[in-house]
Amino acid sequence: MNEGGRTPALRGKDLLELESLEPGEIQLILETARPMLSVFSRPVKKYPTLRGRIMVNLFYEPSTRTRTSFELAAKSLSADVVNIATTTSSVTKGESLADTARTLEALGADWIVLRHSASGTPAFLARQVRAGVINAGDGSHEHPTQGLLDLFTILRRKGRIAGLRVGLVGDILHSRVARSDLWGLTKMGAEVVLIGPPTLIPVEVENLVQTGSPAATAASPVPPSATGSAWPSPPLAPAPPPASASASMSAAAAAAGVSLPHPPVTVSYDLESVLPTLDVVQVLRLQLERQKRGLFPSAQEYSELYRLDSERLQRWGAKPDLLVMHPGPANLGLEISEELANSPRSAIREQVQNGVAVRMAVLYLLAGGRPAQDTETQTG
Ligand code: CP
Repeated sequence: MNEGGRTPALRGKDLLELESLEPGEIQLILETARPMLSVFSRPVKKYPTLRGRIMVNLFYEPSTRTRTSFELAAKSLSADVVNIATTTSSVTKGESLADTARTLEALGADWIVLRHSASGTPAFLARQVRAGVINAGDGSHEHPTQGLLDLFTILRRKGRIAGLRVGLVGDILHSRVARSDLWGLTKMGAEVVLIGPPTLIPVEVENLVQTGSPAATAASPVPPSATGSAWPSPPLAPAPPPASASASMSAAAAAAGVSLPHPPVTVSYDLESVLPTLDVVQVLRLQLERQKRGLFPSAQEYSELYRLDSERLQRWGAKPDLLVMHPGPANLGLEISEELANSPRSAIREQVQNGVAVRMAVLYLLAGGRPAQDTETQTG
């Protein structure tokens, strides 16, 4: 690792999660994404870097932002892009995921960008093929490029990540975005507050609180879990969990020379009381499909306690420069008002645009690209 805290290259052929990335690797991706943004202001919106390479989008779940921005990112670097519609592919004839991937690899795929409902599927696939596998969201596990673009957006708006207090609000339990944000933010030195109803806070986080881990404390009393279900870990690729998530995060941050605030992770069920302390709030999608499982009484009741709008921010004493984010797709009016989502406080549109630059950086680095200071001369 060099003086800037970043490593000279990514370690693997794949991008599967932020949990196992070193802070220096995250730093490298963020630094590489910065010059990539200039692609939007160029008359010719292409760099020749990945000419002759092939990226395949293999999405088993719906997506607008991730699939499109991966396609734009690859095309901006002159790669060829193939989009597989799983509903019309041989998947419908019973072809397995591994066979599908090997077929794509035989056809020349250099990278397979995979979204799947099962946690751990990208890690499973990465062991089956020589092509690079990029996780575009797997079950409730992680959505690493979303986590990276969230970090990049905060960095551009706030000028730093370390030392900020960031609230993740809503359905933490089922959110792969929350999980990637949590790992990315804490590795880069931010303090994270997980905010939501007790039924939507993962048991494993409550366990950290209850076992008195130095990294997670309850900002309000923790009732016994009402769900009995843990934040799922990948069933297809069971990685041994760190002895303590907090120890792992602290060690990684220390290795990067980042000093973590103590404690870096807290839990609160009371948005109103925590809001005035936050520098950034990431509102998560209210997963209405979970409603049938009775994890919250009603969307209306959820909204009364956790919806954000400009009037509420003012009444609850939010900082004037509080940055409001949402990974999308948003249920406007339920978890966030339309006017707040479109207000100057909101970075939602920037998140979408930054997603292209971050995904360009990921592809560029996975292809063996050199660090950021060389990027403009190499690709320009
Ligand atoms: N944030 C996100 O993953 O959006 P999509 O589902 O539209 O890709």
